[in-house]
Amino acid sequence: MTETLVSLWGAVRDRLRAAGVEQPVLDARLLLEAGAGVSRLDVATDPRRELSAAQIAAVEALAVRRIAREPVSHIIGKKAFWTLDLNVTSAVLTPRPETEFLVEVALQALPLTSPTRVLDLGVGSGAVLLALLAERALASGIGLDISVDALTVARGNAEMLKLDNRAGFHLGDWSASFAEQFDMVLSNPPYIPSAVIDTLAPEVSKHEPRVALDGGADGLDAYRAIVARLNDWLKPGGAFAFEVGRGQAAEVEALVTTAGFSLQPARADLAGIPRVVNGTRPV
Ligand SMILES: C[S@@+](CC[C@H](N)C(=O)[O-])C[C@H]1O[C@@H](n2cnc3c(N)ncnc32)[C@H](O)[C@@H]1O
Repeated sequence: MTETLVSLWGAVRDRLRAAGVEQPVLDARLLLEAGAGVSRLDVATDPRRELSAAQIAAVEALAVRRIAREPVSHIIGKKAFWTLDLNVTSAVLTPRPETEFLVEVALQALPLTSPTRVLDLGVGSGAVLLALLAERALASGIGLDISVDALTVARGNAEMLKLDNRAGFHLGDWSASFAEQFDMVLSNPPYIPSAVIDTLAPEVSKHEPRVALDGGADGLDAYRAIVARLNDWLKPGGAFAFEVGRGQAAEVEALVTTAGFSLQPARADLAGIPRVVNGTRPV
């Protein structure tokens, strides 16, 4: 039987839906584009284009992986974040839409007209640091991560985006020391309580790196460690912003005020849930 772009899109969509995939229409189109080597424009403007047996087989191979609930970003190796198209692998957390609120908050505190130094703790794919550097031509910074493989992905993204002249990468953990203090310290740290991880969708629990998810018994281990070091990393008067999980903002705010930092109102997500705890180190 001949398959066209639109017929194969529909067939894959139905199988993904039956497998419990959350966004079957979008994911099926992404797999079709990647497997058949066609663009979104091809799918929209030439939907009845016939596919070769090799193209059909390639799409099928990708569909089988998605049906096994591997994230679509890992399968196609790409994820859109902010204004960037990032390369991702199974070594990094797939950048999430909610992390764009962290970028928004950071941009409000980052001047356009003066050089600034930014530290991104747990840089992963480079999403947050690179989004900021793309928006602020005078900013530069360092991304820290405990994962060698994540740093390889982040470095590759910096090079691909021609931001590597302003982005440095450092292998280490929350005890890392730097020969400078930064104007801004950011983090989207692991914040899922350990016992919750296995209850999450298979895309997350089975495929995202555990080190990117696991925040310890109450999910707050990384915030405690980071806040304990914030005075070492952040200049007096410098700004910090941390993404937090649902229901964690009040506890993280308590950690930072107890440590002597000033707070701005937390940035809420589209559902009204506080998502970014932010403030400054008093001068
Ligand atoms: C939630 S992911 C965030 C990745 C990326 N910043 C983003 O927002 O998409 C957390 C990152 O922190 C890193 N990480 C976990 N524990 C760490 C530690 N103790 N020290 C440094 N990095 C750590 C993980 O490897 C992971 O890349």
